[in-house]
Amino acid sequence: MGRLEELRQRFKSEPLGIHFGATLGHFEAGHAVVSVNVKDEFLIVDGIVQGGITTAIADFAGVYAAMSKLETGHTPAMNINIYFLRPIKTGETITAVADVINESRRTILTRVDVFNQDRENKAYATILFAKPKA
Ligand SMILES: CC(C)(COP(=O)(O)OP(=O)(O)OC[C@H]1O[C@@H](n2cnc3c(N)ncnc32)[C@H](O)[C@@H]1OP(=O)(O)O)[C@@H](O)C(=O)NCCC(=O)NCCS
Repeated sequence: MGRLEELRQRFKSEPLGIHFGATLGHFEAGHAVVSVNVKDEFLIVDGIVQGGITTAIADFAGVYAAMSKLETGHTPAMNINIYFLRPIKTGETITAVADVINESRRTILTRVDVFNQDRENKAYATILFAKPKA
């Protein structure tokens, strides 16, 4: 089994991903797309998606893009910077599109854009991952 297929199988067993109903769409080395239909349990009392949920979905896309650049292992997140540009609401489908933008000896840096079904840009993140220990 190749690395991408191995990671696709891994994604299907992610407990939080299963809880969210997240799906891994287009996936290739250095690039991952993760989508989620917003559930009411993701909302704060104002009827918009809680920012940590958006961050978690961005993180899923980022970490799969990062892991796809390595032959083996998991890349734990070291730092996340995220901007919540527009509120996300119930009934929307949100898609996180992640790309690896730099790889150093010890880290992998990703950029993640979060859109809704109308391609409105809802959030923007940069996420730094650590490479696994050899
Ligand atoms: C924080 C925020 C209000 C700042 O907005 P701003 O910098 O002053 O810019 P604007 O007022 O031009 O709004 C930016 C966008 O958010 C939308 N927006 C702002 N406040 C909104 C509100 N209370 N309800 C719905 N949409 C809102 C605007 O319509 C605009 O979208 P558009 O360009 O598609 O029309 C806006 O960026 C935002 O709502 N971000 C999402 C916050 C969020 O969901 N955080 C996580 C949960 S607390």
